Amino acid sequence: MTDPNAAVSEVSHVLQNLGAEREPVARVETKRSVFAQILVCNGCCCGREDKRKPSIPVDELKRAFKERKLLKTVQLTISGCLGPCDVLNVFTILTEDGQQWFGGIRTHEPFLALIDWAEECRELGAVAPFPDILEPYRFDRFPPKLVDRLRTAEEGTR
Ligand code: FES
Repeated sequence: MTDPNAAVSEVSHVLQNLGAEREPVARVETKRSVFAQILVCNGCCCGREDKRKPSIPVDELKRAFKERKLLKTVQLTISGCLGPCDVLNVFTILTEDGQQWFGGIRTHEPFLALIDWAEECRELGAVAPFPDILEPYRFDRFPPKLVDRLRTAEEGTR
């Protein structure tokens, strides 16, 4: 006799391999849900003044999020290297709608804008629109594959 759990697992696996859309299944729950999580890179390059890189206001961010009690609304995580060191001074924001990347930041203002944004999220009870000041710093962490880019460029010349 076939194990029903094994059959469900097999079908799920097949659908996944076919790239079929399926509802995400939450298998673990957290009581610490937030509207967003910000990961500010403080790794080997970002914010490293000793390497002649522009500073990042890490202490100011941590202090403000704690004093304004924002951490239950937007999680602030100061992280090690996030990967795209060449972009410099990188942070990423995760929400239920996905992940956005920002970098190439040479001043403190875009970082500090995250404080008011987190407060706005709390007041709204939802993810607030990202501050306009962040737009010039948005980048694609997972750009289309080279072939896709070449095809697009080729189509542009026709
Ligand atoms: S140190 Fe920030 S991306 Fe590597």
